[in-house]
Amino acid sequence: MKNCPIGVFDSGIGGISVLRNMRADLPREDFIYFGDDKNAPYGTRPEPEILRLAETDADFLLKKNVKAIVIACNTATSAAAAALRGKLSIPVIGMEPALKPASLFRKDGMIAVLATSATLRQEKFRHLMERYGEYAVPVPCPGLMDYVERGVTEGAELDAFLQKVLAPFRDYRFDAAVLGCTHYVFLKDAIQKAMPGVRLFDGNEGTSHQLRRVLSERGWLKEEGEGGIQLFSSAENPAVIRLMERLLATKP
Ligand code: DGL
Repeated sequence: MKNCPIGVFDSGIGGISVLRNMRADLPREDFIYFGDDKNAPYGTRPEPEILRLAETDADFLLKKNVKAIVIACNTATSAAAAALRGKLSIPVIGMEPALKPASLFRKDGMIAVLATSATLRQEKFRHLMERYGEYAVPVPCPGLMDYVERGVTEGAELDAFLQKVLAPFRDYRFDAAVLGCTHYVFLKDAIQKAMPGVRLFDGNEGTSHQLRRVLSERGWLKEEGEGGIQLFSSAENPAVIRLMERLLATKP
């Protein structure tokens, strides 16, 4: 198992932000990334559809003989992690909005949780809110991930879109904001500009550490050689792979 690759999937390009962390954290490992760009976004779909798509994504990776699967997508984790864990014998690592660290950081303001509508309405998020959400405000951002899918991570159009999304929350004073969708991590600068002075949190580092922990417990960490990355997209469009490569080369 040690030398098998790690499979990573997302509805599209967002999971590349998680892959960036994992590659830095586990440089010996081989990664196979699958972005379901053809069917993105997931966050505006009903749960049974997200589950079906996530199962297809996992099948793609299983055929490549992966030793673990990372669901680098908050939306797909909420809809499919439990089902995938139930039927697979390899570890399945999921993601959740980083509300816990944000709540530990919070002073006397509120916490904005930016995520897809599907993530925010699911039971997994309700449980998270029960534990850490006393001062949290869910901020659904339909349409925001599309900017990343189009390769737009800055500019006036994105700034205006963020202003529109945040307008209903203008009266809140936020200490922290959680980027509860892996696509949004690529929009950090624009989000920071729209929410000046607010501390941003994401779950990427935590997910990478969890992957390391799980593999190490099983004695499945690759011990030698330099890791490689293979990128796949259901869109079968070379421009998407080029965009993945460009974003992968940016700093976490
Ligand atoms: N990257 C995704 C997430 O972390 C989902 C974006 C989407 O497909 O709507 O939630």
